Amino acid sequence: MNADAKREIYREARRELDAVLADVADPITAMSTCAAVLHRRLPYASWTGFYRVVAPELLRVGPYQGPLGCLEIPFDRGVCGAAARHGTAQVVPDVHAFPGHIACDAEARSEIVIPIRDARGNLVAVLDLDSHQPAAFDEIDREALENVAERLSACLGVKETVFFEG
Ligand code: SME
Repeated sequence: MNADAKREIYREARRELDAVLADVADPITAMSTCAAVLHRRLPYASWTGFYRVVAPELLRVGPYQGPLGCLEIPFDRGVCGAAARHGTAQVVPDVHAFPGHIACDAEARSEIVIPIRDARGNLVAVLDLDSHQPAAFDEIDREALENVAERLSACLGVKETVFFEG
């Protein structure tokens, strides 16, 4: 997909999210809505959703669209774990070349994972997108999805978003 078409998709997605998330303070509602909007609009996404931090160093699947995802991912495993561990976006053009990649879907070829923080800046989840196309995600996706993550953070009030104590 060319860069202009991608940017237009993300512009529309952001417009839709701004409208629909305007009064949302419930993290599950916000995450479900983001997953639905992004998955429907991005033709190259095969899986779109969230893994939540539910215990120290542990992610558990949250709202998503696509085939069955694995249920739990420790911080030391996979692309999602790397994003959570380092607190930075991971853009993986070839998942087979990523050490420790977790193959929930045998057809997945590329992946992007973005850290999600609550309104105070604590890591509460990661946003994960998979594609059956190699190198589907690039800097345009990273920038646009980080922008979505920022919008989502505004919905993630500190009290409601703590998925675990301690
Ligand atoms: N591939 C991911 C696991 C999650 S699924 O793709 C939905 C990873 O390596 O972290």
